[in-house]
Amino acid sequence: MSRHVRIAPSLLSADLGRLAEDVARVVEGGADLIHVDVMDGRYVPNLTFGAGVIAAAHKATDLPIDVHLMVEEPERYLNAFADAGAAIFTLHPEATRHPQRHLARARELGMRAGLALNPGTPLAHAEELLDDLDLLLVMAVNPGYPGQRYIPTVTEKIRRARALLERHGKGLWLEVDGGITLETIGEARRAGADTFVAGSAVFGAASPAEAVRELRRRTAVAV
Ligand code: DX5
Ligand code: ZN
Repeated sequence: MSRHVRIAPSLLSADLGRLAEDVARVVEGGADLIHVDVMDGRYVPNLTFGAGVIAAAHKATDLPIDVHLMVEEPERYLNAFADAGAAIFTLHPEATRHPQRHLARARELGMRAGLALNPGTPLAHAEELLDDLDLLLVMAVNPGYPGQRYIPTVTEKIRRARALLERHGKGLWLEVDGGITLETIGEARRAGADTFVAGSAVFGAASPAEAVRELRRRTAVAV
């Protein structure tokens, strides 16, 4: 498999008081994207950040800001997040009535459109929307918190997602999020993921830069 691998450190586990420094550390390690987890305390119990942190991350780096919305009615944030510099706008299909409309709007605003599937959400949601997507995100934990354990049955779902994307043939990215560590990244890679979100495995490490490099190495030996 020669598909390009992307590592997306999640700011959820960064030190928000030193956001720019933490971003610089993972940039030094060769990160490809900066993942920002937006949570509203309703779609998931946890509450995190919004446009302000997206803008701060965007200011700190030239890397694309990969925004993952774990919020009800994500469409309410399309304009604000585009203005804040989001490069990718990923929503969960259960969080909104008309995901197709909002994915199309994300593209009109110059962002890439992503769909995120929880462990219990069928892949069929994505099948209906492939032409409106640039990225499919498969959750390997139930969203809400960093540092949870990778759910092993998700590996098979990644495999099915990869097969679906190959049939579609438009080069969508297949991102996996949750529980990605040095131990689990190889398995997700072998199953066909090409973009890997990692929060605690990066910012919980003594050297976040080295953690990014080591995660990438593990994807190379995995295939
Ligand atoms: C989970 C978030 C993830 C989270 C990953 O709800 O969507 O992006 O930050 O954290 P780790 O890598 O620690 O599982
Ligand atoms: Zn995420």
